[in-house]
Amino acid sequence: MKLERFSSKEDLYTRAVDIIVNAKNDGATTFGLATGGTMEPLYAKICETDADFTNCMSFNLDEYVGLSAKHEQSYAYYMYKHLFHHKPFKESHLPNGLADNPTEEAARYESLLQQYPLDFQLLGIGQNGHIGFNEPGTSFDSLTHLVTLEESTRQANARFFDSVDEVPTEAYTMGIQSIIRAKCILLIAVGEAKRTVLERVLASEYTEAVPASVLTKHPNVIILTDLQKEENEQ
Ligand code: GLP
Repeated sequence: MKLERFSSKEDLYTRAVDIIVNAKNDGATTFGLATGGTMEPLYAKICETDADFTNCMSFNLDEYVGLSAKHEQSYAYYMYKHLFHHKPFKESHLPNGLADNPTEEAARYESLLQQYPLDFQLLGIGQNGHIGFNEPGTSFDSLTHLVTLEESTRQANARFFDSVDEVPTEAYTMGIQSIIRAKCILLIAVGEAKRTVLERVLASEYTEAVPASVLTKHPNVIILTDLQKEENEQ
């Protein structure tokens, strides 16, 4: 894993855009995309570039169960609003939060991912170490599946809804195996709330109790953070 620390968020997001645009210019055509507050400034900056993704495909990490693509808090809507509206891709895929049969929907999405292996995967990180919606304890061998969200994850995401009661209790997510098949992974961890979990990942723990720690064994991971080393750290 390669770690880059930034004292300015502006510089961090400029670097993130460079990494993504360089990957595209180097031939990446399949991009795994993420949502969350962390990604909003990134997508805003990508929209300011003249990068053209119309020959690329995107696959989002996850989607809430029960929300339609028109629901303002669905990840389909988020992606349209923050990125696709301004930077269309040739094809953009997300799990369908309204699918009738969760098992079939997870299998459909996983088979798409296997058909179009990801050249590049963008990741945020949850305060409990989740990637996508793979909560602590998820098998590192997991494929796309339906998850029950942890209460702490629903609380953390409640800020995007009118109240925590409106945050769905379930979601579809790429599995951890689905994520780490990507050739190159960029993880962005911004803000004090991510310090403890980032330290655990950087300490090279490799444990299903911290889903993001799977990245320690991936050959091509870049982590960008605005968190500086604490004074007592080496
Ligand atoms: C959400 C998403 C993750 C995201 C994480 C962090 O639950 N499912 O993909 O990385 O939480 O979100 P934020 O960037 O808002 O802190």
